[in-house]
Amino acid sequence: MSVYRVTGGRKLNGQVTAQGAKNSVLPILAATLLAPGCSVISNCPNLSDVAVTLEILTLLGCRVERMGDTVAIDASALSRAEIPPRLMREMRSSVIFLGALLARSGTAELSYPGGCELGPRPINLHLSALRALGAEIGEDQGCLRCRGGTAMRGGTFRLPLPSVGATENVMLAAVSCPGTTTIVGAAQEPEIVDLQNFLRAMGVRVSGAGGPVITVEGNRTLPHPARYTVMGDRIAAATYLCAVGATGGQVEVQGVEPEHLTAVTDCLQAAGCRVHTAPKRISLTSSGRLKGIAPVRTAPYPGFPTDAQALLMAALAGGTGSTTFVETIFDSRYRHVEPLRRMGADIRLSGRTAVVYGTGGLHGAAVHGGDLRAAAALVTAALAAQGESRISGLEHIRRGYDGLDRNLRALGGDITEEP
Ligand code: EPZ
Repeated sequence: MSVYRVTGGRKLNGQVTAQGAKNSVLPILAATLLAPGCSVISNCPNLSDVAVTLEILTLLGCRVERMGDTVAIDASALSRAEIPPRLMREMRSSVIFLGALLARSGTAELSYPGGCELGPRPINLHLSALRALGAEIGEDQGCLRCRGGTAMRGGTFRLPLPSVGATENVMLAAVSCPGTTTIVGAAQEPEIVDLQNFLRAMGVRVSGAGGPVITVEGNRTLPHPARYTVMGDRIAAATYLCAVGATGGQVEVQGVEPEHLTAVTDCLQAAGCRVHTAPKRISLTSSGRLKGIAPVRTAPYPGFPTDAQALLMAALAGGTGSTTFVETIFDSRYRHVEPLRRMGADIRLSGRTAVVYGTGGLHGAAVHGGDLRAAAALVTAALAAQGESRISGLEHIRRGYDGLDRNLRALGGDITEEP
């Protein structure tokens, strides 16, 4: 079990390129199942979640070859349509394979994805949407047995809340449903637009992504494979911006669309940072002593992203003034609060509301990151804190960050991985 050893208190300066987006590449890799032939995905980040996804594709019968940040997937001959429970447990977002398998194979079998550190992760919206398209989905002893095939037809489905995963699953299943499928109340995240662009490259007639209504013209003709480059990861970008906001200094983050994270950069500007943007790059300058800002409520895109809540809180905790956070998306997304308190933060929790009182500076400590973004938030806090920190929970970081420590060292951060 290795840890990050961080010695904080140094300003960070330099350039970093955002990795390919984790939450875009996962559904796009699942979508390669739709087409017999070889799709080539570039800007594919080196993440453990990607490795699990490639292992599932291989198990299903695809030939997978990775060359640096490019992955070739040949889905000509699928040999099975079941995902083993071990891999479902390793990555609950493997549920995204459900729609793609129904579209390609007409059947799918996978175990119920369990909850995770963020609380229960229900998939009721995925299942009711797919059933509305004609899928028969049986649930027994935690296993989902799904049949689609000729019973599936295009139709209209209204999502009661803009679930990212459910929107993606229906888009993928709809590709093989003859007729028009309309998703009303769709998630509007940029990653949904990336998936739409990949499906279009495969010859699928899909439109509306990025807005509340997505339409797919489906038919029994399978799409063709495609080459595609994944968008930049807006949450990885937010991580570097929050880190430099907290330590002080100057950073230029390249490879990400500034408009994908205006909700985060607006908060950093309100906290005292200067932000300049240009196509596919964001520059931030900070004195390192952030001020408290108006209340931050997480919300579906284009609202403040829940994935950046811990990151911003960690950056503000060592500043001045107070800020109220309200987490509206997940049940328990405050696992970073206790370890931040160990670093001297003053944070009051009440249900989904957390009030951060800037203490003027944190101190190093031995802390554990309990989920992906909580662990990244602790790295941010440790870089700005006085003294040395040891951060465990790197298995969470490896799920979503490609070279977090490498990139932070390139900015001048004193962070090393130790056994
Ligand atoms: C995606 O998760 C992301 N993961 C999450 O990123 C992100 O936090 C989340 O969207 C919200 O933006 C991937 O894309 C792989 P949801 P997803 O379905 O699709 C409830 C990270 O840190 N819900 O939009 O699982 C659900 O409980 C990860 O990179 C139902 O009730 O999120 C939650 O409260 C963490 N029933 C809310 O909707 C359902 O059937 C939003 O969930 C589905 C969801």
